[in-house]
Amino acid sequence: MNLSLGNLKLASSIIQSPMAACTDLPFRLIAREKGLGFSFLEMVSAQALVRDNAKTRELLQSSPEDKPLGAQLLGCDPGIMAEAARIIEDMNFDLLDLNLGCPVRKVVSNGEGAALLKEPDKAEAVFKAVKRAVRKIPLTVKMRIGFEDPSGREAVEIAQRAEACGFDAVTVHGRTQKQGYSGTADYAAIGRVKQAVKIPVIGNGDVVNAKSAREIRALSQCDGIMIGRGGLGNPWIYRNLDGAFEKENLHYVPSIQERRDTLLKHLNLERSLLGDRQAALNTRRIVVWYTAGLPNSKTLRVSVCRTTDMDEIISMVGDFFSALPENAPPPVAPLLLAE
Ligand SMILES: Cc1cc2nc3c(=O)[nH]c(=O)nc-3n(C[C@H](O)[C@H](O)[C@H](O)COP(=O)(O)O)c2cc1C
Repeated sequence: MNLSLGNLKLASSIIQSPMAACTDLPFRLIAREKGLGFSFLEMVSAQALVRDNAKTRELLQSSPEDKPLGAQLLGCDPGIMAEAARIIEDMNFDLLDLNLGCPVRKVVSNGEGAALLKEPDKAEAVFKAVKRAVRKIPLTVKMRIGFEDPSGREAVEIAQRAEACGFDAVTVHGRTQKQGYSGTADYAAIGRVKQAVKIPVIGNGDVVNAKSAREIRALSQCDGIMIGRGGLGNPWIYRNLDGAFEKENLHYVPSIQERRDTLLKHLNLERSLLGDRQAALNTRRIVVWYTAGLPNSKTLRVSVCRTTDMDEIISMVGDFFSALPENAPPPVAPLLLAE
């Protein structure tokens, strides 16, 4: 199934969410090689971008094959958000999303992220300023269903205001700010947003396999599905979820050898693109993703955390996979991982 976000036409309606410290360039290159179409990179602070913070510029690192790609801004000051939006457009991103979902206390206490769900007038001022600043690229908003209220009422209000300001789509994660990552995503509440607007609604939350993908679509009637944690260590998920909506219900299970090769390629990309030190730190997380559910994975994780020598880490990963039986369980999403 395809998905149109303003002038951006996507062949697949399965997209990757922005995830801080996860969806970096190596992650996206691996995911695209295995079938991902549209991806986000992680949120960046509008204020930091406007100040030309070096770390923020690094987070926006991309490459010609890393397309189509969306950037996401966090902030609540209309003027700063507009200025940052202009910078994003000039950097040739394919889409700009505004973050109205981040539940982290420090962010919310600044009036940013999910805090804007309680302030529709402030959110609208941001939407208007950003819309005026951006000339060509599609604009979207990613939000939770509400701050504390789980009914979806707040998300409906925000989505309607975004639509009225000329935004091209909204994404709704079926949890409140208060819930954080606990409980389960409420797909019916996402459906209330879908019924309230004409622009496409992308459903998000707990989609990890064909069953959950069919469920979110059936219960919310969403136009697209955004995968978050389900894509970590499982770059095969995008094609499999596309397959879940085809008549043949295609499902591909990678062999242990392919999983090993993919993880090693991911680690080598981290190394070549980010340098050995950063790669070694990121590896601690990445190894957890790819080995979740596999026998003896805990021992590997502990060993990987004891060194920053990438050659040693790569040889540990190789040994771990060589010791696995060919019929080891398929990839699973590390669902307990939260921000
Ligand atoms: C480690 C981590 C980092 C995240 N970073 C972002 C982010 O930068 N921007 C954003 O909008 N959402 C962020 N999220 C939320 C996810 O994009 C997604 O909405 C949420 O995890 C629910 O989807 P899932 O159940 O498929 O993971 C993050 C989530 C996690 C676990």
